[in-house]
Formats: sequence, C-alpha cells, structure tokens
Amino acid sequence: MSRLIVVSNRVSIPRGRDSAQAGGLAVALYAALRRYDGIWFGWSGNVVETSGEGHPNISKVSNVTVVTIDLSTDDYDEYYNGFANRTLWPLFHYRTDLAAYDRKYDKGYFRVNARFAHSLAPMVEPDDLIWVHDYHLIGCAEELRRMGLTQKIGFFLHIPFPATEILLTLPNHQALVRGLFAYDLVGFQTESDLRAFHDYVMFEAGGSISPTGELTAHGRTIRAGVFPIGIDAKEFVAKAESAEAKRHLDRMRHSMGQRKLIIGVDRLDYSKGLPTRLESFERLLETYPENRGAVSLLQVATPSRVEVPEYDDIRQELEALSGRINGRFADFDWVPIRYISRAYSQRALAGLFRSSRIGLVTPLRDGMNLVAKEFVAAQDAANPGVLVLSRFAGASDQLADALIVNPYDVDDIVEALQRGLNFSLAERRKRWRRLMEVVREEDVTAWRNDFVGALDAVPRTVA
Ligand code: G6P
Repeated sequence: MSRLIVVSNRVSIPRGRDSAQAGGLAVALYAALRRYDGIWFGWSGNVVETSGEGHPNISKVSNVTVVTIDLSTDDYDEYYNGFANRTLWPLFHYRTDLAAYDRKYDKGYFRVNARFAHSLAPMVEPDDLIWVHDYHLIGCAEELRRMGLTQKIGFFLHIPFPATEILLTLPNHQALVRGLFAYDLVGFQTESDLRAFHDYVMFEAGGSISPTGELTAHGRTIRAGVFPIGIDAKEFVAKAESAEAKRHLDRMRHSMGQRKLIIGVDRLDYSKGLPTRLESFERLLETYPENRGAVSLLQVATPSRVEVPEYDDIRQELEALSGRINGRFADFDWVPIRYISRAYSQRALAGLFRSSRIGLVTPLRDGMNLVAKEFVAAQDAANPGVLVLSRFAGASDQLADALIVNPYDVDDIVEALQRGLNFSLAERRKRWRRLMEVVREEDVTAWRNDFVGALDAVPRTVA
C-alpha cells in the first residue's frame, strides 16, 4: 500500500497530555498517517534569525515520521503574516477591503512554498500519496512537479474559495490558480466553493470541464470535488462527558442559576462576524426586554495572528463594544456579555457548550466551522440546546436543522435567538436528533477516507 505524506503549515501531532487538547483534524490526520506509515511535513512553529535552507528537524512518533522546518524572520513576515494572512485570508473571506497586496509578500510566499517542496522531495518514494493542506501552501505542488515528481498530489482548501470577481482583485491570481492545476485532485468544503472554482477555470483561465467533471487548463487535467470536513463526533461526545467537562458545566450552571446562556466560541478573527453578533445580542435585549437579567452571552474569542494589524483592530473594536453594551444593560447581579479573550481546552469547551441553551455561530464567511459541529456533539440528548448558524458557514449546507441566519442582518439574528430561547423541549430534541445524525455520520474519518480514496483513484501523472 502507498504511504501517505501530509503537508501543512502547522503540524500538530497529538502526544501525551497534549492529545486531550488536540482538535479532531489533528487526530484524524495522525490516525491516517499511522495507518499508512506516513510523514507529516510542515513548519516547526519556530522563527529563526538566519534565512536560507536550514536542515529539516526529523523525529518519529510511533510509526509516523514528523519533519518540520524553521522559518526565517523574513519568511515569517512575508509568507505567514504577509501573503497567507494579510492577502489570501482576507481575500478568500471576501474582505477585499482588508487585503494587502505587496510584491514582497508574493515573492516570500512562493519562496517558502518552494522551500517546503525542496525539503520534502528527497523523502518522497515512488508510490507515495502526497496531501497538501490549505491556503498557505497552494504553490507547493508546482515546485514538486518542476523537480520531476510524478506522484499523486492532492490539495484540500479548508477555507472558502472566492467568487471570480473577488479573486480577480489579487494581482497574481493566474499564478495561484496555475499552482492548483499542478495537483491531481483539489478538494473544497462546499458545492459553492467548487462552483466558484469552475467559474474561474471556465471564464477566466480559458479552461474546460468534461462531462465527468475533469478540469483542463494550464496544460493539465485535474479532478476537483467537494469533501466537507467533519469532527471526531464520538471523541467529542466522550469529551463532553469527561470529568473536566462536567466540572465546567457545574460551575457555569452554578454561576447562571435559572438564567439561559448563549455561547459563541471563535478565534478572534474579523471573518467571524463578532461585532454584528454582539450588536444582535444588544438588540435582543432592546426588542425583547424579558431577556434582561434572564439571558447572558458568553463569547470566547481566542487571540490569533496577533502580529497582523487587522487582528489588533478587531480586538479593540470588540473590547469597546462589549464594554459599551455591558455598561448600558448590566445590573449589580447580572452581566449581559461575558467576553473572554483566552483559550480553553476542548473538554472545558464541551462542558460550556453543554450548559448553553443556544450555540451562536455567525461568521460572515467560513470554510466549514467546526465549532458548530462541536456544539451539536456536546449536547445532552435529554435537554439539548439550539444551534443558530450563519448561512455563510460551510456547515450550513449540512446542518439544515439549525436556525439558519444571514450574519449581516441583525434583526434576522435577533428573531432566531428569540425563537431558539423559547423552543419547546420537543422542538429542541427533534432538531438536535437530526443535526447529530449528520455530525456523527459525516465525521472527520469519513472526510479523510473520502479524500484519500479519491486521490488514490486518480490516474498517475505522466512525466
Ligand atoms: C484556520 C485555517 C488553518 C489554520 C487555523 C489557525 O482554521 O484554515 O489552516 O491553521 O485557522 O490559524 P493559524 O494562523 O494560527 O494557524
């Protein structure tokens, strides 16, 4: 059987005590790597002064080989903070207003992608399958092909693929899409991402799509498909029933008394729709005053990419907004918004999800959003909460029994919150059962097997 090589910017091997913190994606990829005697290749997370090739750090965890490289300060600024997180991230999330176009970032991105490819190539064996992840590394396969590699290479985009008109604002959009055509299989989260890609290929790249779905452009024929990522539902249920989860649930219930809790958990990112979310909660208190003193919003916003200036702006905006709303509505024995800027373990979060009447997930754009699925998996079947979910999260394609909202429309969110807060137990149970079925069936293992199976099935590139 072929070996599997996973390439991603972050490498997160679940080991020892840390495995309790590891997300479902890390666990699922690691499990696949163990099955295939695989290699996980990526950035070490270290930034070093000197530039240049450096030596890969190689270690073994069980039968999995972990290979990482350091980034120089320039690489880190231009590739990670620059092109990946100040150009592609905002652009692919439809924030052209925040996207920075800088030739230096562009060069740094392709330089680091080439470095990944050059460090990886000597380790690749003839029958290996290579699976590259996410927007940081789109250019990796093209460099591997330049070096003569003919192995099957797949790419999965965890974030949305933007509509053509948005992508065209990127000065080097052709180079990026040409990079995607160096893969054999390109996977997206949703049909609408795939449609956007088709659209670009047909109308911008001058390519064609065969009746069986193969895409031809830039002198190559590739496959593209939809592979919605899931969570490890069984494992998350176990986390929600752990002692740590129970401790958090009890503490939360104790502090809430008879009040109802709405919960939001996000990386502190402008794509998550957090200002509108807080404003919606404010309007809920204005429009339906019976909720004053009776409902609180717990918003966990974990700091992220703190060196990117736009993340500092959103942090300041949210701190001011939550302060203002609390100042307006709080009473000596009730605070409307509990705004927390720190990270919690997955078990603690599972307990907090379980103690909540509503999970509020309102990104303006999101590839999938696994928090929505984790909220569902954490619920108590006897007394489940309600999911309020943005139609622009990839998860909304699968989770039709959530209350689906337009995250730009404050009134729409308010009405969904008010409905959800007043649902009967029977309504909550009916919706939750259907949501849970999807979360359980379309889990992370199914996602991984579907992708690896599809990659294995593509014909081999001819040199
Ligand atoms: C998103 C991306 C991931 C990324 C994660 C955390 O989910 O799709 O590729 O790893 O955010 O962001 P960070 O910049 O901390 O890796």
